[in-house]
Formats: sequence, C-alpha cells, structure tokens
Amino acid sequence: MFQESNRPSIIKIISWCFLASLTTAALVFAFTREIKIALAIAGIDIVLKLLLYFVHEKTWSTIPFWRKDIQPGVIWLTGLSGAGKSTIGEGVCKKLKAKGFKAEHLDGDKVRDIFPKTGFSKEERNRHIKRVGFLASMLEKNNVFVVASFISPYKESREFVRRLCNNYKEVHIATPLEICEQRDAKGLYAKARAGKITQFTGIDDPYEEPEMAEITVDTTNQSIEESVGKVMKGLGF
Ligand code: ADX
Repeated sequence: MFQESNRPSIIKIISWCFLASLTTAALVFAFTREIKIALAIAGIDIVLKLLLYFVHEKTWSTIPFWRKDIQPGVIWLTGLSGAGKSTIGEGVCKKLKAKGFKAEHLDGDKVRDIFPKTGFSKEERNRHIKRVGFLASMLEKNNVFVVASFISPYKESREFVRRLCNNYKEVHIATPLEICEQRDAKGLYAKARAGKITQFTGIDDPYEEPEMAEITVDTTNQSIEESVGKVMKGLGF
C-alpha cells in the first residue's frame, strides 16, 4: 500500500517546463546569438507555460465528456446448485477488475469452507445469507464491487440484503432443476435423490423464485461467456 502525494507530480511539471523553456532559450540563442534575449524569453516562457498548464488542466477536468459516474454495487447471483452461479460470478468479477474497478467475488462454497459448520435449515441459511450480505454491504461502502454467488433460496434474506446495500442488483440464474440435475457436476443431486444428503434445494428443500430480479439468465442454451455478457449488459457496462 502507498499514499499518493502531489509533490512528485508538481516537481515533474516544473522540471518539464524548465526543460521546455531551456530548449526555447537554446533555439532563440541559435538564431539570434543574443544570450540576454534568449534568457529573457526563457524566463517569460517558463512562467507562461506553468500558468497555462494549470488553466489547461483545470479546464479539461471540468468537461465531463467521457466521464461516466459509476456507483459500486452488490451483484447478487441466486439460483439452484449447478445453475452456473459460481462460474458466471467469477467471470463478472474478472470483467469488473479488467475495467479497473475494485471487485471481490464471494462464493457460496468458498465461504462455507471458512464457516464449515453452517447448516442448511431455513434459519441457518437465512442467518448465513444475512451475515454475508452485511459483509458485502461493508465492502460496497468502501467502493468495492461485490459479486456474490449463493443459492440464497429464501426471499426474506435476499430482501434483507437488498435493503442493506446501496446498489443491490439481483441476478437470477434461472437454469431449470432438470438441467442442473442432469449436469450434477458435484454428484450432490444423485446423493440427495438417494437420501444420502437432506435439505437439498430443489429436491427436499424449497427455492423461492425471485420476483423482482434485475437480471435473469438461463444457462440451458447459453455459454458462460454469453451469460457473463448478459449480466454485464444488464448492469449497464
Ligand atoms: S445457501 O442456501 O446458504 O445460499 P450456499 O450457496 O451457501 O447455500 O451453499 C450451497 C453449496 O453447498 C452448494 O453449491 C453445494 O455444493 C453445497 N451443499 C451441501 N449440502 C447442501 C444442501 N443440503 N443444499 C444445498 N447445497 C448444499
């Protein structure tokens, strides 16, 4: 970490003006062979160049041609296990970073590795989502874009997070259950069907569909790139 200081840039401006005026003096001398005139012009030149530099900078900084004010936000991806939340979330986070924003990806599986005893009852899931939402809102307040990918099956906790954040965008990864179950990348649907794991969202636990998601993405017939693109477009990028 470092703290920006204005001093080096001011020194740089002065040294550049000095160099430029010295060049002017050398040219004047080369043409006139008059050292006094050359130095007098260089003296006026350096003062004018410094003044003009500051006027020029100030003027351009007041023209908002290409400046687009971007407010950081919490991009909340919700959907069934295997819907594509983590991969899309990772892609969105990378795109935001590539645009020069500070961004963090909070992913369900990774956060549960840090808090391993978090269960899957309605109370536990709601409590977990509210805690993660609080963390997301804190990062957002510090100008960090947060991409969160959690099943977050209950409206109650999603709405809680929406209220907590300044700029909450809900992204419903609406890949249907049949497709998620066909993919079954982690083998969890098979286990849930066999009764080896319980309270599995979509099998023996509910998923409350979002009613006011800002963006909806279905990955059934769409590549990850396309889905990431749709989210970015929906966010206005
Ligand atoms: S949430 O409901 O609290 O939002 P979260 O996104 O953190 O869930 O974690 C879901 C992940 O936990 C799934 O991707 C899956 O790998 C794993 N998991 C293990 N057991 C269950 C279960 N009973 N229901 C849902 N996901 C489970």
